[in-house]
Amino acid sequence: MKLPTRVKLVDVGPRDGLQNEKQPVSAEVKIGLVHRLQDAGLKEIEVTSFVSPKWVPQMADNAQVMHGITRKAGVLYSVLTPNMKGFEAAIAAPREEWPDEIVVFGAASEAFSQKNINCSIAESIERFAPVVAAALEKGIRVRGAMSCTVGCPYEGEIAPAKVGYLAQLMKGIGVQRVDVADTIGVGTPRKVQAAMEATLAHFDVDAISGHFHDTYGQALVNTLAALEMGVWNFQSSSAGLGGCPYAKGATGNVATEDVVYMLHGMGIETGIDLDKLIDAGVYISQALGREPNSRASKAIRTKRAG
Ligand code: HMG
Ligand code: MG
Repeated sequence: MKLPTRVKLVDVGPRDGLQNEKQPVSAEVKIGLVHRLQDAGLKEIEVTSFVSPKWVPQMADNAQVMHGITRKAGVLYSVLTPNMKGFEAAIAAPREEWPDEIVVFGAASEAFSQKNINCSIAESIERFAPVVAAALEKGIRVRGAMSCTVGCPYEGEIAPAKVGYLAQLMKGIGVQRVDVADTIGVGTPRKVQAAMEATLAHFDVDAISGHFHDTYGQALVNTLAALEMGVWNFQSSSAGLGGCPYAKGATGNVATEDVVYMLHGMGIETGIDLDKLIDAGVYISQALGREPNSRASKAIRTKRAG
């Protein structure tokens, strides 16, 4: 198959990237990251999540962050909402502070569903259904994240049929597009393609994105494997931040810088300015007191230093 000529990246750094940080990160720094990402040309940014602050303390400032960002025209701002309580909190602010898209998040693994959102897969769909309906009714777009589509920290390998089952349930409640997530970064290209294939039985290729954590260093090859199937939406985190607090041992998302370097090298357009993106990654990494977790960032900064 001919590779896509253009790719859209969702930077999930402010949400997936920071949710797992033990040290406090101020709302001001989170807002600063969102601003730098949009200035670098990101057209979609996952800003925060409206989850329980007892479960994920780092996202407790969700409303403050949504209030503090200065939006740029043409950029889509999304947030996670696992239930009606989260959705209501996300739209408690004036209309102009509402998210453009909400994300309900389920799992292809029963055990992970229990650990992450404290309910079974079937119960999660029951909880999501009114959230999806309310969002669509208000003109807010809906994405569904599907965790553990190749492997689970509790159940091990996940069969593609389980991914297809979840995709079908998501479709059934009106979810408009889905993320095929390798939550713990164990996937390899053929396994990721099988998870994509199972999802393609229920969603159009334009409505599917790849969300690959890079724990085993496979995220870039998995991205290429998905590109070969025509997938052109991907999620990544600037500076390779990230990880789910309920996925033990999982490291960050693939670094946006590395994905952009690969895509541009293949002549695939992203609309992103890699230099500005690298600076965004440096900004958040400095706030966290460490180096960006991106090989492309490191190489380019070394070259810059001459
Ligand atoms: P629960 O305890 O089953 O919920 O949690 P509950 O309905 O029984 O309520 C218990 C308490 O939580 C109540 O408060 C509620 O008000 C409160 P209390 O009366 O005890 O004071 N509560 C909330 N507070 C704020 N916002 C809410 C909310 N809902 C209930 N929305 C729940 C269920 C889903 C809320 C909980 O399990 C939770 O917050 N989990 C968070 C999981 C999470 O954020 N994980 C990380 C994101 S997913 C991810 O990273 C994967 C992804 O990147 C893709 C991939 O890589 O796989 C997307
Ligand atoms: Mg994730």
